[in-house]
Amino acid sequence: MDWGMKNRLSRLIRPDDGRAVWLAIDHGYFLGPLSKLEEPGKTVKPLLPFTDAIMLTRGVLRNCISADIKVPIILRVSGGNSIAGPALSNEGIHTCMEDAIRLNASAVAFSIYVGTEHEHQTLLSLGQLVNEGQRYGIPVLAVTAVGKELEKRDARYLGLCCRIAAELGAQVVKTYYCEDFAKVARSCPVPLVIAGGPKLKTELDALNLAHDAVRDGAKGVDMGRNIWQSGNAVGMIKAVNSIVHENKPVKEAAKFLKG
Ligand code: 5RP
Repeated sequence: MDWGMKNRLSRLIRPDDGRAVWLAIDHGYFLGPLSKLEEPGKTVKPLLPFTDAIMLTRGVLRNCISADIKVPIILRVSGGNSIAGPALSNEGIHTCMEDAIRLNASAVAFSIYVGTEHEHQTLLSLGQLVNEGQRYGIPVLAVTAVGKELEKRDARYLGLCCRIAAELGAQVVKTYYCEDFAKVARSCPVPLVIAGGPKLKTELDALNLAHDAVRDGAKGVDMGRNIWQSGNAVGMIKAVNSIVHENKPVKEAAKFLKG
């Protein structure tokens, strides 16, 4: 791996423990102004000190985030779909590598839709993005997206998606936690992080998710709604951070929620 690629990855995944807490605020690219993300700059500001990277689109980055930010950027470069359209899987690359470099991105993120009518286009686009990433030393984060079909999140399907993403060259893969997640992690030769998915019933449920994911082989989280839609978003990200970086048990991490 070339120096630039290694250097960017080391900014995203902490070299001291090999773990990562990323904050995802890219949802607007197909969901519009989600609750608590109407003003992304305001939502994210108090969370930044506890975040290893933020994942977002170039529009939110340029318009809502101060350019003196110290936190590395994971730039969402895929889209072209919306919750109001006919197929969430119909994604392509909308932001070029040149703009990602201009924005000083530490990685670019792209969703694949395995098993859908758009499987072929999203997998080939992932390959194309990896080719460009290799040229410039920019890591690619592949997201194993399920669209509205949340029930797809089982080890067999996610194992297939993660392995394909790694085989096509993604340097990091983002997926969902599931039963038998250890099998998914074992068969994916690159680091895995997990999304939180839609807001869970309680904060403790989300902390358990983060805990079980790292216990079973994830390198960390790239979480959104379960952090910033919480009534105590700062407490949540501190708690998740203590689980991922300090191996704190959920009961102890939950103390951050009381502050
Ligand atoms: C959308 C994404 C989101 O960033 C991802 O789902 C993480 O956010 P959340 O924890 O809210 O699920 O990649 O495709």
